[in-house]
Amino acid sequence: MKFFIDTANIDEITEAGSLGILDGVTTNPSLMAKEGISGEENIIKHYETICNIVDGHVSAEVIATDMDGMIDEGLKLASIHSQIVVKVPATANGIKAINHLSHKGIKTNCTLVFSTGQAILAAKAGATYVSPFIGRIDDMNYNGMDLIDQMVQVYHNYEFETQILAASIRNTRHIIECAEAGVDVVTSPLKPLKGLLKHPLTDIGLEKFLADHKKAQQ
Ligand code: E4P
Repeated sequence: MKFFIDTANIDEITEAGSLGILDGVTTNPSLMAKEGISGEENIIKHYETICNIVDGHVSAEVIATDMDGMIDEGLKLASIHSQIVVKVPATANGIKAINHLSHKGIKTNCTLVFSTGQAILAAKAGATYVSPFIGRIDDMNYNGMDLIDQMVQVYHNYEFETQILAASIRNTRHIIECAEAGVDVVTSPLKPLKGLLKHPLTDIGLEKFLADHKKAQQ
């Protein structure tokens, strides 16, 4: 199971990286905007910085919505660094662009996936990753994990090589359920990722061990 961090914030990426368990980064236009990154030059610089911090794939999303625009942008993004994965939305033009880019040997991440049908087309187009958005489905009063379970089953049936990258993670429970379902990658904000370590019995146990040790030294 691979862990990606879902942010464009350099401090958060550095902190997650310091745990030694980070396999990559996902960004999207909203996350880049949140960090105040704008303008082609700054965007390119920011992706370079991220790639230099993390030893793994870094998803960079296209803004264009037409096929030719997505391909042009994808080629530019991919030329920034060998770790860049071009993130393309699950639209008809997006599927065509993924097909084109993957034939050129460029890694892609099919994003904004909310159905198994979209996930099948992404795999057929040769996407490296497919990103189902769990939290946004939950937000609509459906169960995002149902999509994950169905995708895992279908990808297993056909031995698709595209990796399932569970996205839109809201809490640690999502991460554990994704692990149970057998996804390839989870991309999570820093808080749920760090939340995996939280357990009151660990804190209580450590406190007791240290107190007992101190007593024995007196
Ligand atoms: C990452 O690939 C996605 O863009 C991200 O997980 C979306 O998360 P959100 O639904 O919390 O915005």
